[in-house]
Amino acid sequence: MSPPTLDTDGGNTGTNGHTNGYTNGHTERSQESNGTVFNAPGRIFDSNISPRVEDLKSICDRVTSSKSYPLAASIQKNIPIYDMNTFTEKSEDYKFVEQLKEEWYQVLFAGPGVIVLKGLYSPDRYQKELDSANAVFQQLLRSETKKADQEGTEQVGGRVWNSFRKLAVADPDTFVEYFSNPWLSHVSDMWLGPAYRLTSQVNIVPPSGKAQPGHRDYHMGYFEADRCVRYPRVIQTASQFFSLQGAVAHGDMPADSGPTRFLPYSQMFEAGYMAHRRQEFQDYFVANYVSLPLQKGDGVFFNPAIFHGAGENVTKDFYRHGHLLQVNSCFVKPMEALGSVAIVRACWDILKQRYKEDNGFSHRVEYLVQAVAEGHPFPGNMDKIIGGGHEFGMQTEQDILRRSLKEDWTKEQTLDALTENRANRTDD
Ligand SMILES: [Fe+2]
Repeated sequence: MSPPTLDTDGGNTGTNGHTNGYTNGHTERSQESNGTVFNAPGRIFDSNISPRVEDLKSICDRVTSSKSYPLAASIQKNIPIYDMNTFTEKSEDYKFVEQLKEEWYQVLFAGPGVIVLKGLYSPDRYQKELDSANAVFQQLLRSETKKADQEGTEQVGGRVWNSFRKLAVADPDTFVEYFSNPWLSHVSDMWLGPAYRLTSQVNIVPPSGKAQPGHRDYHMGYFEADRCVRYPRVIQTASQFFSLQGAVAHGDMPADSGPTRFLPYSQMFEAGYMAHRRQEFQDYFVANYVSLPLQKGDGVFFNPAIFHGAGENVTKDFYRHGHLLQVNSCFVKPMEALGSVAIVRACWDILKQRYKEDNGFSHRVEYLVQAVAEGHPFPGNMDKIIGGGHEFGMQTEQDILRRSLKEDWTKEQTLDALTENRANRTDD
């Protein structure tokens, strides 16, 4: 791979070699004392130079044109809105899906950084699943917050971690239908490639729930600036390409309930992870964010480097129901460990029945396999895998699941193989 190059007028093309605006004013060529000029910007940020809010403003001060995103139904508050109800029949139309994925990729990479997928879980099609999932989530919240014994049916707000696994175990029918949604697979594949890893969490925000500060997420987002600065700037930029954040509205989210706030285009601010906690950037976020009301079943997906934050629920009696979907590339660590064996145990009978009904690997079977099992064999214990000449060697969980369906294994055979595969991937 060739290094980033300077463009002809001497301006730097940025750490990743493109000219879409990824900059922070720190990208001068690096000149060593002996006169050597390197083409790449310096390896790390200079901690003596503060990120400038003017640089963020110059990136975010732009207007999204509908001409740039012809498949969007509209542009609202700078954000492209896609009406998924009009695409229902096209989920297996390869050419169309690729066109849509290309457009979404452009939005997240070098455009506003966020898309709304209206009707991703349209109640016309997914009413039962949304309501069943909500019932499971309420039950989980009541037991996890020790409110299970309380009288009454008042809703409970809060966070359910790893709702992905918990929903699979509690209500496999709903889980299977929910996570076989073709568009969920397409949007995940769009940003991360085929071996993506889904996780999900429930977030129910009660009346008077406060707003979050504007922030960036994912691997770099957990670090304060003094830790971020130790990571090469190219790693800071690249980290956004390994995670996709999303949420599904599990109830209507009117404006006063506090749907997520976004600062479109801010994902392109190169120094963003160094800057997002600074007061002047917080102030800029509060003065310039946009937020769109959502309807039950709508989805929103965004680049984890976009400045964003949950809004304030200013209602007196309305609970905001969000199901957060966090999707990772197979090349990085997801936030939560899922436990594929438990999920496959819960869903096996339905998966196998679908495989038989569909005479093999239909799209819906494949989407489910991708959702429930890991698609990359790392990390592994090579002494066990190579030295032991193990049958499953470097096979992934997805490989094993596909093989088990094809060769008509029993549930126990499949779970044993997955367990053995997992044992070969640890040093314990
Ligand atoms: Fe966040």
